[in-house]
This record gives sequence, structure tokens and C-alpha cells, in this order.
Amino acid sequence: GQPLRVALLGCGTVGSEVARLLIDSSADLQARIGRPLELVGIAVRRLNRPRAGLDPELFTTDAEALVGRDDVDLVVEVIGGIEPARTLILSALRHGASVVTANKALLAEDGATLFTAAEDAGVDLYFEAAVAGAIPIVRPLRESLVGDEITSVIGIVNGTTNFILDKMDGEGAGFAETLSDAQALGYAEADPTADVEGFDAAAKAAILASLAFHTRVTAADVYREGITDVTTSDIASARAIGFVVKLLAICELADPDADGQRSVSVRVHPAMIPRSHPLASVGGAYNAVFVESRSAGRLMFYGPGAGGSPTASAVLGDLVTVARNRVRGAAGPGESSYAARPVSPIDDV
Ligand code: HSE
Repeated sequence: GQPLRVALLGCGTVGSEVARLLIDSSADLQARIGRPLELVGIAVRRLNRPRAGLDPELFTTDAEALVGRDDVDLVVEVIGGIEPARTLILSALRHGASVVTANKALLAEDGATLFTAAEDAGVDLYFEAAVAGAIPIVRPLRESLVGDEITSVIGIVNGTTNFILDKMDGEGAGFAETLSDAQALGYAEADPTADVEGFDAAAKAAILASLAFHTRVTAADVYREGITDVTTSDIASARAIGFVVKLLAICELADPDADGQRSVSVRVHPAMIPRSHPLASVGGAYNAVFVESRSAGRLMFYGPGAGGSPTASAVLGDLVTVARNRVRGAAGPGESSYAARPVSPIDDV
């Protein structure tokens, strides 16, 4: 059949890997979708950087024009940040394209606007890569567990800080040198403050809580404390008594109040956990998410949480899914109907 035309916004660590996979795996992807995917353009900020193996003709600095094309079926947004990503995604949705995004900051700040725009247009908005890299966690919460009642989600959802804490623990390494290693390995955000101050984990926590509790939680609702005050000696002291320090994202549903209303509590902070706990063994840039629900009980999701290749895996999974939906003339689940729930004050951290 006719190719599905794909526009890529952003060509950094994740975007360049997505572009490479689209080209290298095109025959396999076509077989899984039933129609070929054709990469028609890549929007970048500057044209003068070398992009090994990619046709220079694909590149443009005019992202607006790319998403404004009526012949684009699928848009992948891996620019990150709020603007211009939001304007571009909204334009893509309004032009009838399905969108795959890895943009946790934007979803956590203004997901509601994006979900509404996608549903109004009758197209898909998928975002598996926004939380915990390659680990399937968005789709399990959004689809597989949607019939259950989730009571808590606790995770290590930032690879950079886990990598740093792990190195400070195992090798007694200092904070600054470990952060530059994490940057060199492609784990850290463009501005690593987002990682070490907990903003990245807080955005992911807001997304997880929204999906788990069918509500709207924004980054501003999340109590946030990063790892910049954690010292090598804190870690050594914890170690001496059998504990490890991890940056945790904790999303909980409170017991019903007098009116039967259940509020949510969402927080990100360093926590000491016993070495015997399964989360204690999550090393390097790996992530893990524990989900507790009424019928399923306890589930654990574990895997590579950052880096170009793992994140590209999640993006490609979404791309194949939205392409298949499009071929069938259907759309996946939406969240535009979610209403806000009260957020519990944080008095226990
Ligand atoms: N900077 C993020 C992390 C990348 O370290 O987890 C994945 O979202």
C-alpha cells in the first residue's frame, strides 16, 4: 500500500537513533504495519552539524512548515522542552497527523491540552518513551491495567541520578565527575539541572500518577527534592547500616475521605532503602517501576531507562502502533476526560 509519511522533530541523541532505525529496519517495520514508513523530513535547529548516514536533503530548520504539511501521517517529537514542542505538536494534531512524543516535561505541564487536541482530531498521541526509556510502563498503565485499581506506583525513573548515586556508592566517586560521565553516555538532559534537581523525575511522576489514578496531575503538584545535597559520606553512612540511597518517585492514592473522595500524593526525593529491597539492586542508568493494584497485586517493570537506543526502542514501538491504528482507521486510548483530583499536602517527608 501507500507509504505512511513520517516527520521527525529533533535529531539529537534519541532522534538520530530513531532516524537510523527507520531507515535500517524499514523492511521489518513495513511487514509489521502492512505499509511502508517513509521518512519525509527532519526538523533541526541548525543545519551545519554533521549527521552521519542521513540524507542531507531530509533536514530543515522550518519545523512549522514540516508539521503544516497535509501529507504527513505521523509526527515524532523528540525536541523536548515546552516550546516550540507544544506549538508543533498541536499543529501536527490539527493537521490530522498522529503524534509520538518523548516529551515528559510538556506532558507533565500541559498534557490536557495535547490529549484534547488529539481527541478532537480523532488521532493518536502516544508517549511510551516519556517515562523510563525502553521500559513498557505507559501502555501497561494506560491499557493493560486500566480495569484494575492501582493504589501506588513507586519508581526509579531518572537514569542520570541513579547512575550518579550508584557510582558514588560503588566507587566512592564524586558528584561532578560522575555527572560528566552520565552526560558523555547520553543519559543526561540537555540541561542536567533537570536530572539532578529532580525536575525530570517529577515530570515522569506526574505522568505516571495521571495514568495510574485516571486524573490530572501536573509537575507543579509534585513535591520535588533532587540529589544535589546527597554527599558521598551520606551514602557511606547508609551503606554501613545496610541501606542504599535512591531518588524515588512515589505516587499514592490516599484512603477515601468522609465524602468518599480519594486524593493523590506525588513526590520525588532521595530515600534510603534496605539493600534487600528489589529497588536497591537497580544500578547504572537502569530504571524500575513498582505498581501495586487491587486485583493484580504487585508488579515490577525494570530495564534501561535512558540513552538514545533504549529510548528509540520505545519511540519505534509507539510509531508502529499508531501506524497500525491509522491503517485500521482507528485511534488508541485517550485521556482528555480525566478530571483533577485533590492533591494531598506533603507532611510526611
Ligand atoms: N535524562 C533522563 C534520565 C533521560 O536520565 O533518565 C530519560 O528520560
